[in-house]
Amino acid sequence: MESFVLRLRAVIECGNAAHALKDVEGFLMDPEGYALMLLAAEGYGVGEILEVGSYMGRSTCWLALGAKHAHREKVTAVDHFKGSPEHQSGRECESLALVEEGTTFNRFMENLRTAGVQDYVEPIIASSEEAVRNWNKPIRLLFIEGDHSYAASRRDYELWSPFVVPGGYICFHDIGNAPGVTLFHQELLKQSSQYSHIVSVVSLSVLQKNA
Ligand SMILES: C[S@@+](CC[C@H](N)C(=O)[O-])C[C@H]1O[C@@H](n2cnc3c(N)ncnc32)[C@H](O)[C@@H]1O
Repeated sequence: MESFVLRLRAVIECGNAAHALKDVEGFLMDPEGYALMLLAAEGYGVGEILEVGSYMGRSTCWLALGAKHAHREKVTAVDHFKGSPEHQSGRECESLALVEEGTTFNRFMENLRTAGVQDYVEPIIASSEEAVRNWNKPIRLLFIEGDHSYAASRRDYELWSPFVVPGGYICFHDIGNAPGVTLFHQELLKQSSQYSHIVSVVSLSVLQKNA
């Protein structure tokens, strides 16, 4: 009975957050966002929550809603806000914001304010490679969603994974949709004993760092 009620509450919580974020443009489906929200609120470990690749803040808002609700660590959002190759003019996911403003940062900030989480997000306007040079804090939840190519996914993993605490998580998005990150994710699970796959939610894969 108790767990039935808890599960019903989770449905309501997911529905409420999905409704609040329905106008935030981005690439995350509601169940994927809710998984990030739960990890931010209830995930194991002590350390920062950091995402690489924020775009207009959809994943950032899900993460920050969870963290804020639970009074846990704030979210650091790393992005140069100039879009990935597929967001550029004439490409398959052309971004109107990029065409009009040359950056997605203004829409990102606007979306954080609308969702009421601007006080829970520290943006770093820089590439992943630049941002990591000044980084020295432990991370308990790392969400990698920058450039989806094999080389960039591998680079982001290699740059940021050393900061993930034992028992902490790395999440990858678009597994099964984007060939580059899918191949890297497959190789990582085969070749490294550092992480174990704990769950997939649609195309979001959640790995936990072994103790
Ligand atoms: C698919 S979008 C992220 C979507 C976002 N997580 C969401 O939920 O809607 C990828 C983002 O990665 C950023 N990006 C691409 N290469 C990057 C790099 N080397 N460093 C930092 N950000 C990068 C792009 O600017 C873009 O905003």
